Amino acid sequence: MAEKSVEQLNEAEASEELARLSVVLEQAEQAYHGADAPEVSDAEYDRLKRRNTAIEARFPELKRADSPTDRVGAAPSDGFGKVTHAVRMMSLANAFEDSDVVDFDAGLRRYLGLENSAPLAFTAEPKIDGLSLSLRYESGKLVQAATRGDGAVGENVTANALTIADIPQTIPNAPEVLEVRGEVYMSHADFADLNARQEARGGKTFANPRNAAAGSLRQLDSEITRDRPLRFFAYAWGDVSEALSETQMGAIKKLAAFGFQTNPLTRLCETPEAVLAHYRDIEAQRATLGYDIDGVVYKADDLGFQARLGFRSTTPRWAIAHKFPAELAWTRLEAIDIQVGRTGALSPVARLSPVTVGGVVVSNATLHNEDYIIGRDNTGQSIRGGKDIREGDWVQIYRAGDVIPKVADVDLSKRADDAVVYSFPTQCPECGSPAMREEGDSVRRCTGGLICPAQASEKMKHFVSRAAFDIDGLGAKQVEQFHSDEWIKEPADIFRLKERYGAGMQQLKNREGWGDKSADKLFAAIEDKRRIPLARLIFALGIRHVGEAAARDLANHFGTWEALVSALDASRAAVLAHRAADEAELAERSSAALDGRRPKITETRRAIITKCEVPDTSTEAWTDVTNIDGVGPVLVVSLSDALANEEERASIDRLLAQLDVQPAERPQNTESPVAGKTVVFTGSLEKMTRAEAKARAEALGAKVSGSVSKKTDIVVAGPGAGSKEKKALELGLTLLDEDGWLDLIGG
Ligand code: IVH
Repeated sequence: MAEKSVEQLNEAEASEELARLSVVLEQAEQAYHGADAPEVSDAEYDRLKRRNTAIEARFPELKRADSPTDRVGAAPSDGFGKVTHAVRMMSLANAFEDSDVVDFDAGLRRYLGLENSAPLAFTAEPKIDGLSLSLRYESGKLVQAATRGDGAVGENVTANALTIADIPQTIPNAPEVLEVRGEVYMSHADFADLNARQEARGGKTFANPRNAAAGSLRQLDSEITRDRPLRFFAYAWGDVSEALSETQMGAIKKLAAFGFQTNPLTRLCETPEAVLAHYRDIEAQRATLGYDIDGVVYKADDLGFQARLGFRSTTPRWAIAHKFPAELAWTRLEAIDIQVGRTGALSPVARLSPVTVGGVVVSNATLHNEDYIIGRDNTGQSIRGGKDIREGDWVQIYRAGDVIPKVADVDLSKRADDAVVYSFPTQCPECGSPAMREEGDSVRRCTGGLICPAQASEKMKHFVSRAAFDIDGLGAKQVEQFHSDEWIKEPADIFRLKERYGAGMQQLKNREGWGDKSADKLFAAIEDKRRIPLARLIFALGIRHVGEAAARDLANHFGTWEALVSALDASRAAVLAHRAADEAELAERSSAALDGRRPKITETRRAIITKCEVPDTSTEAWTDVTNIDGVGPVLVVSLSDALANEEERASIDRLLAQLDVQPAERPQNTESPVAGKTVVFTGSLEKMTRAEAKARAEALGAKVSGSVSKKTDIVVAGPGAGSKEKKALELGLTLLDEDGWLDLIGG
């Protein structure tokens, strides 16, 4: 049923609507703050909250005791210690229109008794889309970090905050008590990297940088947080033993002097017009900032005014968040196309009647996968109220920052009577091979492998991409052309291009778009890449789950292609057993979920692996490979499968015959006391980050591994090291603390 406007509601309806909104908003807040998985979009949340406020304004007597207007965030979850904030952590009132900003200025003047001509300056700064954190320093030392929680009580995340590089652990010359508040966030680039890493390890991927930041900060194991690239902008303060400044701008400068990152787009604006001009400026830069912002925050600059203005129940009177308009638009879904990717994934793409979304014309959007189209998420829960999406439907397009636009919603009232349920292909539209879905995979994949022209062509594009072979003059476009003309059917053909098409009947220089010079240049560029570093080769093969970082780790660990292949061949029996165990585990998990049991996963696993009678040598080889830092079982299974596939292996061998693969450069540092040793870092390190420790150890010729086994030589354990330290003691390995390690490697 269509929603009535606030003006149309009678008293009974208003009361009912307030009760409904209270529940809906509460659920949305829980999902957003508590579980790091938003259920309604930010724009819809804001709309519902505004509707609630408008109904309360029209029927003040109906305002509920549990009104959403009086709530901030969600109650802290169990698992972390609780922290009662010395000064409540507040939320911000919102402005959506320019006129709201003019009203804000007028309201403050009225409250303060200021003439229109009297100065009233504001700071204006981006509203960072992350999660707020309060840092308490006593005598200049970080003693506590707490999330906002419900504003009064938050979660103690001190151990995690200590792992974030942007957060100073000590501040010389700080006031005796200093609480600094700001936003923890993740940059777009780091978010993309993290998701790629997560995917390679078979871990959970995040929907957006905010969820990734929240999920990373709220880890019970701070070692996980340490591995996550979190950042922090300081923009406010709580309890302080002495005033930081007389102005907001002065206080922000002070925070910067204390060593915090403050947002470089913070400006002092003398008038509402200047404020709005800065808003437009930030809005124009939004897509290129490299991190998510969802509006601009204005604060009265004079701290004397701030003190006089004070707070409403959950928001300061002296500040307001001017939100960016949601980038949403409705249009017609002309058709659903299926694209086949490098690893065979069938991705549904919405072909749209072009529509402007947030200033950009959009004619394609993602529909994610098969389940998304029928109205389910990847856990099988219903989304969009279970509404499916059909060709010809009227759909809502959502675009956030520079990510691929997506189809967010569908308007059933505009659905044609003859619209048919979309049937997702079970055969690859490119090669006709069966397209299968493995248990636990939300993606349906073409099983054609290299015989699928789409997979082959995508693989080739990946092969020549920047981080892979990076051949000058041979980009995605050229590869696609050569591939469709069958000049290049597989990577090895690139290196035979000159031999085949450098002279004779069919010549590259005679092709349209090519000439003598450009052909020679391409041949030279290809020649140049015959010598290729091992890490690039491994990455270029385009094997599922093998990203750039993992390729580097594998190359550094094995040194040569031959060593990598023989380790994988040796572990094949174990790989098969583990895969069988994975499948059994998934089946067990889904049947247990169906009848509400908790599956006995480890037992199932162990039983299967034992039944497979894996030889010891294979088990050992498996442990060796999966032990490499950054290389998990999911990756090893995928890589091993690729190498065990006859066609794929033959194609790789043909490629290798054309190449001169450079072994990974192991520093020939035989003088280093750790050369050739296998080192495991565990617990928290205080003098360097994990990444830095690993890089230095590798530079000295050591191998860094993720878990302790009898092949480990040295375990470096910092505070908080747990089972790995214990195991090192049991196995009688060399156990060092951070200083001991630094002494060993000479500082
Ligand atoms: S000031 C007492 N400034 O937005 C006022 N908040 O919607 C404290 N936020 O809880 C907030 N960027 O998590 C402020 N530049 C900024 C901000 C900012 C993001 C967040 C903060 C706050 C929420 C309110």
